[in-house]
Amino acid sequence: MNDHLVIFDTTLRDGEQSPGASMTKDEKLRVARQLERMRVDVIEAGFAAASPGDFDAIHTIAQSIRESTVCSLARANENDIRRAGEAIKPAASGRIHTFIATSPIHMEKKLRMTPDQVVEQAVKAVQWAREYTDDIEFSAEDAGRSELDFLCRIFEAVIKAGAKTLNVPDTVGYNVPGQFAATIRSLRERVPNSDKVIWSVHCHNDLGLAVANSLAAVTEGARQVECTINGLGERAGNAALEEIVMAVRTRQDIFGCTTRIDTTQIVPASKLVSGITGFPVQPNKAIVGANAFAHESGIHQDGVLKHRETYEIMRAQDVGWTQNKLVLGKHSGRNAFKTRLADLGITVDSEEQLNIAFARFKELADKKHEIFDEDLQALMSDEAVTPEQEHYKLVSLRVCSETGETPHARMTLSAGGVESQSEADGDGPVDASFKAVERIAASHSELLLFSVNSITGGTDAQGEVTVRLSKNGRVVNGQGADTDIVVASVKAYINALNKLVSKPEKVNPQV
Ligand code: KIV
Ligand code: ZN
Repeated sequence: MNDHLVIFDTTLRDGEQSPGASMTKDEKLRVARQLERMRVDVIEAGFAAASPGDFDAIHTIAQSIRESTVCSLARANENDIRRAGEAIKPAASGRIHTFIATSPIHMEKKLRMTPDQVVEQAVKAVQWAREYTDDIEFSAEDAGRSELDFLCRIFEAVIKAGAKTLNVPDTVGYNVPGQFAATIRSLRERVPNSDKVIWSVHCHNDLGLAVANSLAAVTEGARQVECTINGLGERAGNAALEEIVMAVRTRQDIFGCTTRIDTTQIVPASKLVSGITGFPVQPNKAIVGANAFAHESGIHQDGVLKHRETYEIMRAQDVGWTQNKLVLGKHSGRNAFKTRLADLGITVDSEEQLNIAFARFKELADKKHEIFDEDLQALMSDEAVTPEQEHYKLVSLRVCSETGETPHARMTLSAGGVESQSEADGDGPVDASFKAVERIAASHSELLLFSVNSITGGTDAQGEVTVRLSKNGRVVNGQGADTDIVVASVKAYINALNKLVSKPEKVNPQV
């Protein structure tokens, strides 16, 4: 059996379907470049038919990524497949991933199609896709609740039509490891020519079993796992890439296969995705959580000092954890700044962007003498770097907060280039500031989440704030970072408002 496990990353597609996780084209490109640097085999860059913006993002990623296959999702209809085919055209290696639901409940209630019609449509989809590429993946959506006989029938038909990768999604996270492994075993035994294709799995985490189910499938011969950075994804998310990769690497004795992932790029990828989407990583998260390699208890520390392997099964540096490094200071020049960004995998596309970013770096260096990698990552995550996306812009903010007094905020905000002033009282300085913004923006959006994290240690650390807003069913996340957490909060709020103003609606492929 082939011992290469294909790592298919769907952070930019399934991950992005998570409410509030949508990314701009530039952000997607940065994530794609990091995935390429990490040597992911396949990058699912999006769903081309979702919107012109999604098409454009996939096309741009296909133009710039050379070392990973670039893939677009497409429902099993001609329009979706043609959009996907056009979007991946510039790729050095391009894939179309088409899918249709196969469970009785999805076929009857969602598609309103008979099983015969579903098989016919799946075959047509693969045939349309072949006009663009030989690298075709077919997914039986909700395979985890589909009948085995029907799965065998549809998979046999799409292999005949030319599909090369067959994906078995546990779309609603309903399966348990033994059962899911048995499904993969049966499919490989029963489907004719099953040895000519790669069997893939795509597990959701509704019962917290996405990684366990994926790994159980690997022991039965699945040779592609679909996963996301930090386990981002719809509802409880997808299988976490970092956990799959490190499990396979650490327990080669069990899995008997290898990936080509450069594991030292895992933590930078995790930080990049978390910074861009505003989905923080819990401290006790395996591999990428801040405490994943911290040995707090005295007994553990003693053991680790005597012999690391008493308590550590992996090395922190192997997954990309580094000591907080002082990288730059206020005297650092433009070149040093640019080089450090490149080392972090952050590319700046134009001189204008570099100038704006460098000016903001200098502003930060005036306030904070030691600038760490994390500070630079936060600085570059801030969408203010691309001015055309900014409708609202904070010009100035003054906040008074005193024990026994009502906090008061006064600000100047620019909206579409026109400056206005506003003032408001609030329950705290952040509340007062948000009310002052709202007096000008009148967005009438609902605040779903407000969270503050410190980017590095020390009381001069930048606070990184995430604000999640909802309006008319749309959910967006905004981020802001500053040494002053009230300013960081206002930046995050304005960032979210800018997304509400600028991000167009798009279609969810599975609804
Ligand atoms: O969860 C799912 O079934 C999917 C498919 C489109 C592969 O995301
Ligand atoms: Zn999914």
